[in-house]
Amino acid sequence: MTTIRRWLDDRIPIEPGALRALTNEPVPHHLKRWWFALGGTPAYLFVVQIVTGVLLALYYQPHPSTAWESVRYITEDANFGWYLRSVHKWAATLMIAAVVLHQIRVYFTGAYRKPREVNWMVGMSLLLCTLMLGFTGYSLVFEQLSYWGATVSANIADTIPVIGGFLKKILLAGEAYNERTLARFFVLHAAVLPGFLVALIAVHIALVRIQGVTELKFRDEPATGDRKFPFIPDHLYTELIIGLVLMVVLSALATLAPATMGPLADPLTTPEEIKPEWFFYVTFRWLKLMGGTAAVLSMGLIVFLMFAWPFIDAWWRRRTRLREASVWIGVAATLLLIGMTIREAVAPH
Ligand code: HEM
Repeated sequence: MTTIRRWLDDRIPIEPGALRALTNEPVPHHLKRWWFALGGTPAYLFVVQIVTGVLLALYYQPHPSTAWESVRYITEDANFGWYLRSVHKWAATLMIAAVVLHQIRVYFTGAYRKPREVNWMVGMSLLLCTLMLGFTGYSLVFEQLSYWGATVSANIADTIPVIGGFLKKILLAGEAYNERTLARFFVLHAAVLPGFLVALIAVHIALVRIQGVTELKFRDEPATGDRKFPFIPDHLYTELIIGLVLMVVLSALATLAPATMGPLADPLTTPEEIKPEWFFYVTFRWLKLMGGTAAVLSMGLIVFLMFAWPFIDAWWRRRTRLREASVWIGVAATLLLIGMTIREAVAPH
């Protein structure tokens, strides 16, 4: 053992104390509550996505003539293929839900305020990347709904003034859905977007480490003395327990509600109902309410305002006495989000 350690010390001279200090910063007491550890949940689910995604990619063939059949093979014939595909699908759903819940907790605890404005914007980029991963993944199966969903989305992008046509061309690899489109979705889904996500998560966590997490105080915490606890092992245990519970939940969901196959895409027959995945119900409802260009431009404005929110909030708090208006705006936005999602879920399509 000592020989191996000496061999390693000669080549990689890392001081164990320095490594411990780097990885083991004390964290505030409130992180013992699981909903404050929600940031680790999407990170964990992303790892599950990478592992299951790599295994699925061994069989998936991104071409209109082979894609659906390769997914059918994974689902019905390959050993444990149904399990891997179902876990991948459910982990995507849970990851999006976890990112949204984490963002809601960050919002309502005011954790986006100075000095964490940049990290909020990094978080917003993470949210968009995660949603794009969901969209491109959904499009890969080449079922009727994935084909028509992608076609409708590209047509919506086309309505954006000035850059719309260009965006549509980039997305579809041409003027319309063609035999290169699926390869493009696949590269975006399996390489470009995960690459962005890894880089963004690294910056996000680095900023959390540099700035520390927001200090909050709860009544049941020690009023005086040391209100912090060590990251290792205490916080690591919390994250491990969340990870284990998630693995059980994922396996149960994959077994009880496994991923199935829809009908093969038919470019000549528009399905009677086109319905996106649940996480796009809000945007779909918005499109129905506002229609075309107005919907796309207003959604762009909303995303811009969300990015700029820490600065808008700071400006507002400096100028008015209604310092906690953000709480009411947040409650209204959350209720609207839930209401529009439920409305779209029950709407006849
Ligand atoms: C893949 C997506 C994401 C991952 C893996 C992630 C991960 C994390 C982790 C591990 C923390 C440490 C504290 C905690 O666990 O809550 C954190 C904090 C934070 N996150 Fe995220 N996050 C993601 C998305 C977002 C989004 C969408 C936003 C907001 C738009 C955001 C904004 C923040 C901010 C401002 C903090 C600091 C919180 C504080 O100081 O209390 N994150 N994130």
